[in-house]
Amino acid sequence: MTETTFTPRVFSGIQPSGNLHLGNYLGALKRFVDWQAKDVESIYCMVDLHAITVWQDPADLKKSTRELCAGFIAAGLDPEKSILINQSQVPEHAQLAWVFNCVARMGWMQRMTQWKDKAGKNAQNASLGLFAYPALMAADILVYHATHVPVGEDQKQHLELTRDIAIKFNHDYGVNFFPETEPVIEGAATRVMSLRDGSKKMSKSDPSDASRINLTDDADAIAKKIRKAKTDPEALPSEAKGLEERPEARNLVNIYAAMAEMSVDQVLAEVGGKQFSEFKPMLADLAVAKMSPITTEMARLMENQDEIDKILARGSERARAITAPILSQTYDIIGMVRPVEV
Ligand code: TRP
Repeated sequence: MTETTFTPRVFSGIQPSGNLHLGNYLGALKRFVDWQAKDVESIYCMVDLHAITVWQDPADLKKSTRELCAGFIAAGLDPEKSILINQSQVPEHAQLAWVFNCVARMGWMQRMTQWKDKAGKNAQNASLGLFAYPALMAADILVYHATHVPVGEDQKQHLELTRDIAIKFNHDYGVNFFPETEPVIEGAATRVMSLRDGSKKMSKSDPSDASRINLTDDADAIAKKIRKAKTDPEALPSEAKGLEERPEARNLVNIYAAMAEMSVDQVLAEVGGKQFSEFKPMLADLAVAKMSPITTEMARLMENQDEIDKILARGSERARAITAPILSQTYDIIGMVRPVEV
């Protein structure tokens, strides 16, 4: 009944909050695609249940969920290989989350920096769901017995809590049922910063559209935003340490390196000494070459809502083949009477 070894399985989730941009692509989607090449079973989830921990307009939420799914596929995730789902279609996520609400302690939740940041001074008025957010996230991961979770640095604390929940559950019930998941944290090199201010993360909520490259931008818009990106007057250095204290220069070089799949040092060995007037057109060409097939495919998929909805339905069917037995075993472990044939 209880497993002692866990086969490698990757799980990650992204909130469907609209305005997918280059930061999401290089920081998350592209990394998921790289995992796919490793032939490990992988599940990627649009976390619509997490999204409603703060108010969401229903029509926008549907659109953002489909857009995120289109983004996953356009970025190169093959829905036949990886499992693509929206969280609410796989009910075991929410069911296991309830169990974890009873495992996790109030004090653990209260220490979460994302809770403190999001709830702010008005915590009494935050939703109960926002407080319980990390227990649902732990359920997302553990309902697949996922062993590897690629996320950004900001999610590290939630993954530690996921481990704490797994450990406490295993300990309380005297089993070795849930694995201790490994975080796979994205490096700083893939953190994409604003094109207008190299000290701020590229963000969907930045009021300036010129600060980001959206996955809905066409080739002209992409090239224009790169030409207008903020820089400094100096030539590019020939070594990475010459980028310290030059956040805008570093950001553009990082973006180039990530898209060309080169190291920063390799890029600088080629472009060191060049002025931005020369480097920016190179970057714009590369960005258009890499991004416009993605934005074109996304636009095509968004015209074919049916295709997206079928992919999600099929994904949730495959997902449930994994999650239903794990939830059922969990219920059995904790003492719920299970259905028999009648
Ligand atoms: N909390 C994550 C974020 O905001 C999204 C998320 C939800 C997630 N469930 C997850 C990420 C499970 C990894 C695994 O980015």
